[in-house]
Amino acid sequence: MPACKTTDQLEPTVFVIFGGAGDLTWRKLIPALFDLSQDRSLPESFAILAVDRIKLGDAALRRRLHDGVNQFSRFGRAKEAVWSRFAPHIHYQQGDFKKSATYAALGGQCAKLEKQWGAKAHRIFYMATPPSMFGEIPKYLGRAGLARDRAFARIVIEKPIGYDLESARALNAVLGASFEESQIFRIDHYLGKETVQNILAFRFANPLFEPLWNRRYIDYVTITVAESVGVEHRGGYYDHAGALRDMVQNHLMQLLCLIAMEPMVSFDADEIRNKKVDVLHAARPIHRDQVPLCAVRGQYGSGTAAGKKVPGYREEAGVATDSQTETFVALKLFIDNWRWQGVPFYLRTGKRLPRQASEVSIQFRAVPHRSFPPEASLGWQPSRLVLSIQPVEGIVLGFQAKYPGPEMQLRPVDMRFAYRESFDAPSPDAYETLLWDVMKKDATLFMRADQVEAAWQLLMPVLEAWSGTQPGDFPNYAAGTWGPESVQGLLERQEHRWPAPTELRSPGMHGRIRKKEN
Ligand code: BG6
Repeated sequence: MPACKTTDQLEPTVFVIFGGAGDLTWRKLIPALFDLSQDRSLPESFAILAVDRIKLGDAALRRRLHDGVNQFSRFGRAKEAVWSRFAPHIHYQQGDFKKSATYAALGGQCAKLEKQWGAKAHRIFYMATPPSMFGEIPKYLGRAGLARDRAFARIVIEKPIGYDLESARALNAVLGASFEESQIFRIDHYLGKETVQNILAFRFANPLFEPLWNRRYIDYVTITVAESVGVEHRGGYYDHAGALRDMVQNHLMQLLCLIAMEPMVSFDADEIRNKKVDVLHAARPIHRDQVPLCAVRGQYGSGTAAGKKVPGYREEAGVATDSQTETFVALKLFIDNWRWQGVPFYLRTGKRLPRQASEVSIQFRAVPHRSFPPEASLGWQPSRLVLSIQPVEGIVLGFQAKYPGPEMQLRPVDMRFAYRESFDAPSPDAYETLLWDVMKKDATLFMRADQVEAAWQLLMPVLEAWSGTQPGDFPNYAAGTWGPESVQGLLERQEHRWPAPTELRSPGMHGRIRKKEN
């Protein structure tokens, strides 16, 4: 987790990218590394070795990556002089990921760079490949002796970490055979988001809310990660994954852990990760026959998004025309411990929902006794705290206030914090934060093997129940709506509601964040 970035904190580093000619490298990794270089947050001695199967020279690769930087860098188009200082750090190596010669050549390249720099370098191996390679590359790295130096070698792996509990365990075992857990960095890019990191700051750097953060004061919690986009160009991958694997097993579980975890004793990576995994261990197991009562799945049909007609999921490229894959999931979970006993956590995520919105809403209990006259409190609502992750980055606390006038009239009002108003520093992209942390060997924001497995364990009964029964009613929500109707039934009591996402009005309205219910 970056505090204050200075290059002298970083030692010589070779950043090896398997899949160096691929989309992730082009769209995310190189723009993030370029932005770090703009912030002077890369070591003086630094090289990127892009490894891939296709035939490509340094010059052609650099041209392609330059284009990616121009499109995705947070600094906008790269100035010629700046790009020409960065580009020579990038080298291409053609090689088959399943041939020992590739790894021997890689070792040779690293040694050559170290000789040139006159110093031993950290070697970061990033698997930006299709998941089918995740189980192979670590084996070859191990055999080539490239994983051996515990202090200098690291491996980075993207989700999906497995397809289910069994395959996740197998993958963790393959990684563990060549690397120690301290060398393995499993990326969940949600953890790199500023507003997600801020959940820890908000909860544990302020004495105000933590005493209220429990079953005594909190009625229920909703976690929403809504996307307005469809599957875009990823139909082929997505149709085998679905929303539960793609979003819930990782991003939503991480948010749940940060909201429900106990306070950490120190800011040590394992201390924080222990507290997070405790949440998953305390989650009430879902019995397979109970799945219909606590899980809802949906798939979008054609509809309207941003005023335009859009096709249904089954019409998307790469998707089977009779696909049974879910593009929407809602779950009701309970955490069985002293803090949360009886408090429902409602999670939902989906594609082609009316708008993009990731946020956590903490609904407080009603006051124990209403001492105001009934006519004073017609619009009365219990307090609600919203931690808004994106696209609005901020926090809103809704509470009751007296409406001006001679009579006592209560009205709900908001107190709010908006990142872009309070801080003039730009938020780095999640990948910048995470790559910097890998270089610094700080694993706080990365998933540990036991956490990944605990998340799969919790969700396996849902996956099994769903794979055993065809949904029958797919598509069951139109693109541009908030998911299937049955999702309302999941909310335990009548007065529980999915909150409508916060909105940031135009600055002319003082940037007021508005809430309403859907
Ligand atoms: C990825 C999923 O992990 O997260 C995508 O594979 C999803 O399906 C994306 O669109 C959402 O990330 P963000 O940062 O845009 O909320």
